[in-house]
Amino acid sequence: MPVKDDTKDRERTAERLLTASTKNWFDPLTEIDWEAPLLPDAFFIDEERCTLYGTPMWDRLGPQQRIDLSRHEVACTASVGIWVEVILMQLLVRHVYDQDMTSRHVQYAFTEIADECRHSTMFGSMITKFECPNYGPGRHAHALGRFLKTVASGVQPFAAALIAEEILDAMQREMMRNETLQPLVRDVARIHVIEEARHVRYAREEVARRMPNLNRAQRAMCRLLIARVAHVTARNLIHPGVYAAVGLDPRAAAREAWTNPHRSRALQDWGRRLVGFYEENGLMGGPGLALWRRSGLVAPDYRPGKSTNGG
Ligand SMILES: [Fe+2]
Ligand SMILES: [Fe+2]
Repeated sequence: MPVKDDTKDRERTAERLLTASTKNWFDPLTEIDWEAPLLPDAFFIDEERCTLYGTPMWDRLGPQQRIDLSRHEVACTASVGIWVEVILMQLLVRHVYDQDMTSRHVQYAFTEIADECRHSTMFGSMITKFECPNYGPGRHAHALGRFLKTVASGVQPFAAALIAEEILDAMQREMMRNETLQPLVRDVARIHVIEEARHVRYAREEVARRMPNLNRAQRAMCRLLIARVAHVTARNLIHPGVYAAVGLDPRAAAREAWTNPHRSRALQDWGRRLVGFYEENGLMGGPGLALWRRSGLVAPDYRPGKSTNGG
């Protein structure tokens, strides 16, 4: 099959995104009031989106412990966000290395890297403000991330970047709309949602452009890779240390969270748009489906096809 020349289309997308970036970007260090005290009684994420919500273990927690758990869970997710952003920054730097540095496509990649630098600083400042540790994704995921950021190429970085970007985006859209949450969390979510919308567009259009040019083996490889990334990301969003921080047995709590139907619903809600996009672009299928089902981002009986993911 002849390979389509997508240069013009790619440049048009980048031009649009660069224009949008000059109009709507934020310096979180000055935009956010980092000195403002946290509200004593406000949750950090919707109570129902806490991983233990609705379980017997949750029922035994006092009001302050529940709020504290929500604080640690948000801090943990932000630390995983930094991990993902650092991987993405390296993938983007590697992506542009062999390209025309004067192209708008490369210039937008630089702009996105700059956005991610600010986001990671913002997430780090938020974790410090919450007086939480830098949980990170755990040792195994950290090692897999090193492998991914070193070897992924072609369409893979763009397809893989969408996983964390879309999941975080869906989660943060809920957070910025919930007026009962900590104002700091809502401010961080708002800035991230606005800037990530461009990143999602950049990655989605690149995936849609490149997928038709892949051969069967490359397509199968990409499907498997994103299934693995989805599995590792979803399973490591919450470090068991968050449960220990509120006085729970971390292993027992992690088990309880993983079998919690509320948790499953949250993950499937946050994964729905991502999975729909992958389905449209032939990225759901093959042996990776087992990993998808274990990731919790789709139902345990999921089969590719829009009606089956509860949406
Ligand atoms: Fe980001
Ligand atoms: Fe991003």
